[in-house]
Amino acid sequence: MELKARYGDTALIAGASEGIGAAYASALAAEGFRLILVARRIEPLQRLADELGDRYDTMAQCVACDLSEEGAAEQVLDAIEGVEPGILIYNAALSHIGTFTEHPAADHCQAAVVNMITPMKMVHRLGIKMLDKGRGAVILMSSMAGLQGSGFLATYAATKAFNMVLAESLWYEWKDRGVDIIACCAGATATPGYIRSSPSKPGIFAPAVQKPEVVVSECFKRIGRVPSFITGRGNRVASFIMQRLLTRRMAVLIMGDNTRKIYRIR
Ligand SMILES: NC(=O)c1ccc[n+]([C@@H]2O[C@H](COP(=O)([O-])OP(=O)(O)OC[C@H]3O[C@@H](n4cnc5c(N)ncnc54)[C@H](OP(=O)(O)O)[C@@H]3O)[C@@H](O)[C@H]2O)c1
Repeated sequence: MELKARYGDTALIAGASEGIGAAYASALAAEGFRLILVARRIEPLQRLADELGDRYDTMAQCVACDLSEEGAAEQVLDAIEGVEPGILIYNAALSHIGTFTEHPAADHCQAAVVNMITPMKMVHRLGIKMLDKGRGAVILMSSMAGLQGSGFLATYAATKAFNMVLAESLWYEWKDRGVDIIACCAGATATPGYIRSSPSKPGIFAPAVQKPEVVVSECFKRIGRVPSFITGRGNRVASFIMQRLLTRRMAVLIMGDNTRKIYRIR
């Protein structure tokens, strides 16, 4: 992977304690990275830090922060002042499943802060430093839900589209300046968060649910090569059909129907 040679020896993972975030932490610890791990709950973070420390003899600093709060980006980056991460992975996300109007507007605003405002501010502040140094990497987690309108996931899907377009735009601006950025567009992945959302079993034609470790290794293979990518062959085939072969209307209908079925929405 040679990630250390390319990006330095410290990585910040926002949303690191479980699922895909913990898989990123583990993969980077195995490469000898020093880690800054961020999440709301300190205990699972500290457990992961101890476990990775024992297994890989790596150092990890844990920062407890609710990334849905205004000023969260500043709080995290001030807490690590003096340390300049060569890799930023923004993984945390909030999704409210259900009809748009059943959730109060405040819930949608909270999702907008966790999923868009905080990562945008982190990318801005760390991006300036990475560009100054002429090296660095940013990974923004996106989702297949962000590739078209996704009924019953409206705000989440819209924020994931934002992440993808932000990463792709900056990829263009930064491609000759030594800083790599990628949107990792995942499909269903077996994380504790996904399992807690109680999805029903996907149909036999649905792409397979991926393991977090697979998502992570696919992402590390592609960073520096493409502005964004879709994880998993099954997801790429589904996306090809939805985005290239069907009309936008059909794609939106299929996505909404699927979400309705998976989450048993009446
Ligand atoms: N899992 C999937 O099927 C799937 C599919 C497509 C895309 N994705 C994307 O992949 C990413 C990871 O998904 P995931 O399922 O692994 O996990 P997730 O449930 O979205 O996030 C898990 C991690 O983020 C932290 N986190 C959540 N909200 C936070 C907040 N407000 N402030 C600080 N930390 C917070 C959690 O720790 P605390 O609870 O302690 O804060 C945990 O460490 C997300 O961006 C998601 O959109 C996932």
